[in-house]
Amino acid sequence: MSLADCLRDTLGLTGTHLGCEHGVCGACTVIVDGAAVRSCLMLAVQAEGAQVITVEGLSREDSLTPLQAAFRKHHALQCGFCTPGMLTTAHALLTDEPDASEERIREVLSGNLCRCTGYIPIIQAVLEARAAYRKGSKGEPI
Ligand code: FES
Ligand code: FES
Repeated sequence: MSLADCLRDTLGLTGTHLGCEHGVCGACTVIVDGAAVRSCLMLAVQAEGAQVITVEGLSREDSLTPLQAAFRKHHALQCGFCTPGMLTTAHALLTDEPDASEERIREVLSGNLCRCTGYIPIIQAVLEARAAYRKGSKGEPI
């Protein structure tokens, strides 16, 4: 069983989306021991003992994280299908590289396909969210 199917079908964590199921679209991205990975390409058993953070795990209680709030502010989603993967990918990036340049953000997010937004608002949102990570909040609500 893939990690994606385990998360969705066994654990009921349907925030992780499945698009291509071939490692191309990035919709299924989750964070495993701090690294953004494609859960459609990883077996669930390979994650045994690891910390797995899905898009559900980015939130704390009822408040949006700075990254999520920036996505809402900049209208960085339309249909929302790509959004969980965008958020987990961007969170992993900014946690490791809170000073990531726009070029670096574009490079990393180029592995996540979006058919709606044209990417500009997504990049704007991630750029704005950098400040929260620089403060050491790791994307926690502020
Ligand atoms: S569903 Fe995993 S990369 Fe597309
Ligand atoms: S918002 Fe629709 S695919 Fe990205």
